[in-house]
Amino acid sequence: MVTNQVYRPKQFNLSGLTGISDRTLEVHFKLYQGYVAQTNVLNEKIAEVLKDGRIDHEEMPAYSELTRRLGFEYNGMVLHEYYFGNLKRDAGGEPPRDAGFRRAAEASYGAYEVWKADFVGVGKMRGVGWAICYQDPLNGRLSNHWITLHEVGNVSGFTPLLVMDVWEHAFLLDYKPAERPKYIDAFFANVDWQAIEARLRAAPRDTMRQRAAS
Ligand SMILES: [Fe+2]
Repeated sequence: MVTNQVYRPKQFNLSGLTGISDRTLEVHFKLYQGYVAQTNVLNEKIAEVLKDGRIDHEEMPAYSELTRRLGFEYNGMVLHEYYFGNLKRDAGGEPPRDAGFRRAAEASYGAYEVWKADFVGVGKMRGVGWAICYQDPLNGRLSNHWITLHEVGNVSGFTPLLVMDVWEHAFLLDYKPAERPKYIDAFFANVDWQAIEARLRAAPRDTMRQRAAS
């Protein structure tokens, strides 16, 4: 029997951010809720196909299309939860001197400022997507990645530590399309570095890849 657990949208209390308006957040929360709803719809429809325990030949085209869309909708849901979850009112600035994230950035890039230049650079890349700082669970190394849409470029098993939405809907009510750098400044003014530390502390170690390499 196929179990079908339903996802529910999380609530985020983010009003009063610096440089990202409440109106933008309101629209953005609605979009996020759409990804949660669509993830549930896909799972429901796939469960419907699997109800008789098999995928018939004539079901294959629709089943394939539903399954291909999982990456878009699931990542649309999950990445927004990471994004909203790493923002906070009256937060921002830079991570404290003794923060684990700063130390990891220094170990990986030589200096926190170099890590930041890279992350901001990724965020300014042309196209629709995300800038994500991941940690490799094998060796703790940080690396910044460009994700096209929601699903192209995520690294399997890596831990997302800092997630920045650079789809235009994230800032278009507050800035012009060409003003993405201003939005990126606003993003950094609202980063909840304590949340990043918590992600770092909770990050798993990759014992499976270690085992495979030994
Ligand atoms: Fe978004």
